[in-house]
Amino acid sequence: MYGRKDLLGLRDLSSDEIMTILNTAKEMKEKIDNPSLRTNDLSKSSIVTLFYENSTRTKMSFMLAGEYQGAIVKDLGVSTSSVSKGESLIDTGITLDQMGTNIMIIRHQLTGAAHILAKNVKASVINAGDGSNEHPTQALLDLYTIMERKGGFNGLKVVILGDISHSRVARSNAFGLTKLGAQVTLAGPSTLVSSSMQSLGVKVSTDIAGAIHDADVVMGLRIQFERQKNMPFPNLREYSSLFGVNDEILKYAKKDVLVMHPGPVNRGVELSTEVIDGKHSVINIQVKNGVAVRMAILKLLSERSKREV
Ligand code: CP
Repeated sequence: MYGRKDLLGLRDLSSDEIMTILNTAKEMKEKIDNPSLRTNDLSKSSIVTLFYENSTRTKMSFMLAGEYQGAIVKDLGVSTSSVSKGESLIDTGITLDQMGTNIMIIRHQLTGAAHILAKNVKASVINAGDGSNEHPTQALLDLYTIMERKGGFNGLKVVILGDISHSRVARSNAFGLTKLGAQVTLAGPSTLVSSSMQSLGVKVSTDIAGAIHDADVVMGLRIQFERQKNMPFPNLREYSSLFGVNDEILKYAKKDVLVMHPGPVNRGVELSTEVIDGKHSVINIQVKNGVAVRMAILKLLSERSKREV
């Protein structure tokens, strides 16, 4: 069972809570392509998205996940809202609370923004990415994709590769994968991965071929140019030749390796175009699974709020 008011990160979730979400997502997936299977379980719920940073996948999949279950779904449109007049996050949340919002989904550039909102509103809060801290629903859809393709997590070798130091996706995946029994290696240039990340219960490597050796899953991460003060490598061509994943480097991995990426991809930088569109890639499947996982999260949070009425 998922009994919490909010979903703020995977750091605090138990493996049972994670599995409840993944198993609920399994029931949801067939509803994406088959509207006749959809039910209006959320017809009494209202959902508002507050995205202080841009998004295609997370925002759209949450909005569709709500509408596929009959909820009222609205986007605040942060740049055209009273946030532009200086209204604080807490006052914005309290205002939306008064309008009867049941679930708020927030993406914000500041670590801890979702936690601050959750403490100050009655609505359930879902963290859709806070600074470099966590992006729990991305990690949950990644976990779901791995479970669907590999049958489980125990002993799986998962390599997460690229801009680790700025990545909330890497952190949430490290928390989730290690709780479920996978072995995780975070790999990248020394300017983008720090040995201090071993405290997350993972290995850290700057040797890409060594890290990928015998991997079951290789997850590339986008270089987050918007979060860099200085270029962390001399130029993009050098980065892709030393740290990019292409067909040659993928030969070190297991024959049935999964190639994943949260998107959006810098094509030809972290992954080559052949790898993105190749037989090992499950990047488009991740997008579809994102809708199923977000349908599951909205359903579980709305069931909890019904129990409280
Ligand atoms: N993976 C991810 O969060 O993508 P968006 O920024 O498009 O939501």
